[in-house]
Amino acid sequence: MEYRIRPASKFRGRWRAAGDKSLTHRAFILNAMAEGVGAVRNANGGEDCARTRDILQALGARIEQPEKGVWRVEGRGGTFRAPEEVLDAGNSGTTMRLLAGLLAGQPFTAVLDGDDSLRNRPMERIKAPLEALGAAVETGAGGRPPLTVRGAPLVGCRYVSPVASAQVKSAFLLAALGAEGESAFREPRRSRDHSERMLDRMGAELSEDEEGWICLTGPCALRAVDVNVPGDISSAAFLIAAGILVEKGNVLVKGLGVNPTRTGLLAVLERMGGRFALYHPREEAGEPVADLLAQYSRLQATEIRPEEVPSLVDEIPVLAVLAACANGESRFHGLAELRVKESDRLERTAALLTAYGADADVEGDTLRIRGGRPLRGTEFSSGGDHRLGMAATVAALVAQGESRVTDTGCIATSFPEFASLVRRFSAGALETIGEGQ
Ligand code: S3P
Repeated sequence: MEYRIRPASKFRGRWRAAGDKSLTHRAFILNAMAEGVGAVRNANGGEDCARTRDILQALGARIEQPEKGVWRVEGRGGTFRAPEEVLDAGNSGTTMRLLAGLLAGQPFTAVLDGDDSLRNRPMERIKAPLEALGAAVETGAGGRPPLTVRGAPLVGCRYVSPVASAQVKSAFLLAALGAEGESAFREPRRSRDHSERMLDRMGAELSEDEEGWICLTGPCALRAVDVNVPGDISSAAFLIAAGILVEKGNVLVKGLGVNPTRTGLLAVLERMGGRFALYHPREEAGEPVADLLAQYSRLQATEIRPEEVPSLVDEIPVLAVLAACANGESRFHGLAELRVKESDRLERTAALLTAYGADADVEGDTLRIRGGRPLRGTEFSSGGDHRLGMAATVAALVAQGESRVTDTGCIATSFPEFASLVRRFSAGALETIGEGQ
């Protein structure tokens, strides 16, 4: 599967943002752990969230789709059934890490595995906190998957994470729900807080002190809740960027999740002179939501500081494309975590920019981009990383000449609607070749 992309002469349209991937995982997992029945609407339709659903079903949860657009999750009240087979998390780090947290307190052993990309991602970061609570977790060579989680009765503890990661924090909190006594978690910088917000709605008593410790006393029963999933800013980011870069671009995205732990992209866009406005601020499922209008803008270079990175960690590839089209030299600092995403996203983002003729390099954990050179159409493979495939598509829309973005099947892990939206907004600048995406 690949895309053939011509320079876009327009990029205009409006759409309702597809459901946020992080929130969809959590809505399925936490409702399956709760008591009662929860309905999940506007769920992310990508393959990552389908893996989470499949695994929860293999653990005995009933998750059905009574009508299009609605998933009904029957809670198991915290106790699951031993699976008969290895649990396949596919390409999804969130699935593997959060479900390891769920499994840590179960009275059985389960094995989690994934595709080649996931098999390259570090799992020590969840082994340590889950073992501190009393579970036994074995990894494959080099601390990578497969993961064998030997569940055990857990006891609350205090844990300081060396990385700012919502996946690590959430794995710990999910396990801590079933642990006896108080558990507390601290991370070097605040990562996305969707788990905390949803747990709070479900009746868990979470608190945060001045030093940033998130505290929870277990065992703690959850009440299932309905979740109308806010739109995914990490997916919408690609269309917002295209609306800003393509001359006379204009896009309106409705129902966008604007949780402040996720909106680093907007703060950076503002500094770069990107024209956008937020309308109708409201709350949905305990999360801030708004509509966003973005328009063609001339951009200035900017600096991204390490402390901002958790709030835009998935948006670096598309921000890099924006910076390549901006005036002046941009520096994005503190990007070490990008090396352990679906690919070495730091090196691959620099490679993407240079493939399109931009001037970019990596120095340590810093990405340096000297913007302003016109981009040239090229051929670029996603290498199986969905966000690189989408960032390369945005670059292609403003590059001179035709481009080919190959290995685009992975885009369906997070944003299956991507190609058809780009085709519609650009009046046909994108053509898909081959099956599916
Ligand atoms: C996610 C957290 C982030 C992010 C990923 C989804 C989540 O990973 O990159 O796409 O849903 O918790 P880390 O927490 O490992 O930084």
